[in-house]
Amino acid sequence: MRIVLLGGAGYLGTVAARHLTGLGHHVTVVDGLIYSRGDDPARLLPAATTFVHGDLRDPAALRRAATGVDAVVHLGGLVGEPACALDERLAVELNYASPVLAAEAARAAGVEHYVLFSSCSVYGHHAGTVDEDTTPNPLGIYARTKVLAERTVADVLDGRALSVLRLATVHGRSPRQRLDSVANRMTAQAVATGRIPLNGGAQRRPLVHVADVADVLARLLSAPAGDRTFNVGSDRENYTIAQIAGVVEQTVPGTRIDAGPERDESDARDYTTSFARLAAAFPGVCSTPLVHGVREVAAAVAGKELDDPDLPEYDNLAGLRNSLTEGRIRAIGSGECARLHSDYAHADWSPR
Ligand SMILES: NC(=O)c1ccc[n+]([C@@H]2O[C@H](COP(=O)([O-])OP(=O)(O)OC[C@H]3O[C@@H](n4cnc5c(N)ncnc54)[C@H](O)[C@@H]3O)[C@@H](O)[C@H]2O)c1
Repeated sequence: MRIVLLGGAGYLGTVAARHLTGLGHHVTVVDGLIYSRGDDPARLLPAATTFVHGDLRDPAALRRAATGVDAVVHLGGLVGEPACALDERLAVELNYASPVLAAEAARAAGVEHYVLFSSCSVYGHHAGTVDEDTTPNPLGIYARTKVLAERTVADVLDGRALSVLRLATVHGRSPRQRLDSVANRMTAQAVATGRIPLNGGAQRRPLVHVADVADVLARLLSAPAGDRTFNVGSDRENYTIAQIAGVVEQTVPGTRIDAGPERDESDARDYTTSFARLAAAFPGVCSTPLVHGVREVAAAVAGKELDDPDLPEYDNLAGLRNSLTEGRIRAIGSGECARLHSDYAHADWSPR
């Protein structure tokens, strides 16, 4: 199968590229390497991958990428609210305009399957258990761009096969390591300082291992295509933030939780997620427990495979700040992006 990974030189994409090429698929990665880390695609991606340096907001580049492929997978963009809040216009271009422009290109090229990477963050705050039929409750720019991208991409594809993957928070080792998501950050801090800072910690958060995401993607691409949305993770991997800290403390010897009294009010996300639909479609997937990712990241930090874990190269927020300051990335305000920004500005967030 010929597969293009848009944004495939990142944390998830590099793991997916290895997995998919290992299964014999022809993989092309299009990525602008937007973070100021001097990323070297030859180091990050398997030799069998074709790498194209490009901007995922460029309709011509997207048309070239979509031509002659069986599947377009969109996993580019800004991840998480802090990065999106740095520059809302840029977040809308990367997380909303780009997936929509890619869907337009895929549709024009007759691509059979489009996969959009979304996030369980779309559920925001919910007292009970959320599933794919729960009305999204987007709490910030990141979740709003994801919700709107899901809706508009479905409209653009108009019945063509679309899969939306709403991922749990990802942990574990990748060639392009990120240490800014909750479990990876706690693990890196535990190894580097012996302490695991924790504020409050009652918020619930589902987790999934990075290799399991690649496995789900591969299975989905090989299954008959159809319109579907999946939460990606496992019912067993729903945690509170305090429980995540507890797993890290038990797994990394000689560390202790430094508990502050206050809840972290900067992130109100709080939900338990059902992954029953995914488990029914692909039995046995996402079985890697949190402790496995903690061990991997702890070993990489302790063994100096990763440099100083505080470096901006492992943190998308710090990396993006640097890239904005250095002028490596900015909102371009092209005609296409302006058209789609207007959708976002006038979006109706009521249930539909
Ligand atoms: N990592 C997680 O915990 C997590 C959780 C839920 C959802 N997701 C979603 O999964 C996807 C991948 O996440 P990730 O952790 O691999 O992110 P990442 O930041 O590691 O990778 C994103 C890649 O996209 C590229 N990119 C962004 N905008 C671009 C543009 N305009 N042109 C060219 N390249 C561009 C970046 O250079 C980067 O390599 C995202 O859609 C994210 O929202 C991730």
